[in-house]
Amino acid sequence: MRQPMVAGNWKLNGSSQGAKALVDGILAGLDDTIPAQIVICPPFVYLQQSREMLQSSDVGLGAQNVCAEDKGAFTGEVSAPMLHDVGCHYVIVGHSERRSLYYETDELVGRKFESAVNAGLVPILCVGESLTEREKGITETVVGRQLKAVIDQVGAIQVSQAVIAYEPVWAIGTGLTASPEQAQAVHAYIRKELHMAGGAADETRLLYGGSVKPENAADLFAMPDIDGGLIGGASLDAESFLAICRAT
Ligand code: 13P
Repeated sequence: MRQPMVAGNWKLNGSSQGAKALVDGILAGLDDTIPAQIVICPPFVYLQQSREMLQSSDVGLGAQNVCAEDKGAFTGEVSAPMLHDVGCHYVIVGHSERRSLYYETDELVGRKFESAVNAGLVPILCVGESLTEREKGITETVVGRQLKAVIDQVGAIQVSQAVIAYEPVWAIGTGLTASPEQAQAVHAYIRKELHMAGGAADETRLLYGGSVKPENAADLFAMPDIDGGLIGGASLDAESFLAICRAT
């Protein structure tokens, strides 16, 4: 039985006051009716204050990115051991914004994943195709390639113990959501590939991300291979985020 998960990716948003207000709002709205593991991923500089606020709750803390190296002359980077040290349990790797805007290759994403696992973090690995790739009919080829790069690096068992987020690039921040059937098809493909590679695929939590809102969350989460969501814009508002958590 997979526990559902909803993770909020705050991206490059917030301030110390705003982050505090958002965490306060989430904590105030928590109740026993929410079955999901809730995770928030604030910008690096607000991780520590968030950790302190989350201390006595079950809300998990994650970072949005990590360096593939543990330490050394890598100006501006933050390593997996450092994230673990400040109380992170999760880290997003391979988000499409990192892949496209910061030129992260499949191979680099694999090394970041490995570094996270070695430090005791649970990676939230993002995969997904662009609109052109979907229109060309190569969604599975692209997602399969992104997945294989990480399996080649750490093995299928390790990948299946992480969290995988399918985020079609064309649905991120656009208001366009994959239909529950479109998302389910890719999730089923990911689970099948993980299984065929020798992973414990039935245990892997597969999240959908891309314009998830309180209005469309329940239909997406009702699909058999969709175990929750990775939420961008709607995670910046405590009420919306909690409504999505309640939809799991
Ligand atoms: P939106 O929910 O804003 O579309 O962002 C999705 C996302 O990229 C989460 O990582």
